Amino acid sequence: MKLDRKEILTALETISVAGEGKNMVESGAVQNVITFGDEVVVDLLLSTPALHIKKRAEVDIIKVIHEKVYEKAKVKVNIKVEAPEKPENPNLIRGKQIPGISNIIAVASGKGGVGKSTITANLAVSLAKMGFKVGVLDADIYGPSMPIMFDVENSKPISVEVNGKSKMQPVSSYGVEILSIGFFTKPDQAVIWRGPMAAKALNQMIFDANWGELDFMLIDLPPGTGDIHLSIMQSLPITGAVVVSTPQAVALADAKKGVSMFMSESINVPVLGIIENMAYFTPEELPENKYYIFGKEGAKNLAEDLQVPLLGEVPLVQSIREAGDYGRPAALQTASVLEGVFETITRNVVQETVNRNEMLPPTEAIKITTMAGCSAVKK
Ligand SMILES: Nc1ncnc2c1ncn2[C@@H]1O[C@H](COP(=O)(O)OP(=O)(O)O)[C@@H](O)[C@H]1O
Ligand SMILES: [Mg+2]
Repeated sequence: MKLDRKEILTALETISVAGEGKNMVESGAVQNVITFGDEVVVDLLLSTPALHIKKRAEVDIIKVIHEKVYEKAKVKVNIKVEAPEKPENPNLIRGKQIPGISNIIAVASGKGGVGKSTITANLAVSLAKMGFKVGVLDADIYGPSMPIMFDVENSKPISVEVNGKSKMQPVSSYGVEILSIGFFTKPDQAVIWRGPMAAKALNQMIFDANWGELDFMLIDLPPGTGDIHLSIMQSLPITGAVVVSTPQAVALADAKKGVSMFMSESINVPVLGIIENMAYFTPEELPENKYYIFGKEGAKNLAEDLQVPLLGEVPLVQSIREAGDYGRPAALQTASVLEGVFETITRNVVQETVNRNEMLPPTEAIKITTMAGCSAVKK
């Protein structure tokens, strides 16, 4: 079988790239098409570094060549991105804006109670098991739950001297360094935080703490998409966000708002993907049986719709809840189905972080200049 270059170009003319009016051949995005027998290499130059657009272009190219030219063609797509604008400050090396902390991942949800904290805790232990240095910053001012989930409810961070400065020492559990807003409030005390105040407290927990070197810092954000998020997100250089949702329509609608909040111009944090929690119920003794009690594939459809990756699905399992209450995240259960579930999701999160860092400049923190936290300027 010898592929015809012209036929391939004609097929590629049926694809348009998001944000560019013309088809990918006309717009000049297709730089080169080389064929050898049944193999074809397409070189593509895109003007946007958006991950989802890159992915979509690759999928579309492979599909159209298989459908219109030869279904068994071996297609390779090389995508180059026109150099993104240099960050204003050349010293801001990717992922190194906070000394020692390589990647900050925000875990968010539109709705409360969808399992955001459960996922954060399990991602953290799963990353630690893979050998990464991990910290968790529990920023959920409405319901901090990391102290319980890591069984360190009665611990308090101690103060240590680092280079003559006094710093807060995170609490360590299962190989994860933890600081929580819960360590500083009493469980029965209702604290009403305003956005800038919460952002300030969190800034202290990041900059005035002795985290040491971290590959990943996970932030368990409060649920929702309010002002408080704006303040938090703008004051920290977040590498990427992970949005957790259940398959229910109400949760999905809120997750959608969450994703658009991150993508909005004033926040502009790349969304690494969506995790579907409570995707289906499964009784532990009958793992083959899956009951889609909150609906099926809701998050998968949402991810497709928003063109962000679906990072994985976590079943609704009694032992996940028990593990959370007991203070020993389920992903720690060695050789269990759940360990595998969380491992797959964690690998996807790591992969998407790597992709993001290859394609995009670092996220810039924005300094809040007014107490209202509404008007913000770039550093
Ligand atoms: N996949 C799951 N299977 C079983 N229980 C779960 C699962 N995910 C979360 N839960 C339970 O649901 C409740 C809410 O989860 P949590 O992580 O606290 O949600 P959020 O942080 O979004 O408010 C907790 O009791 C938790 O143990
Ligand atoms: Mg929570």
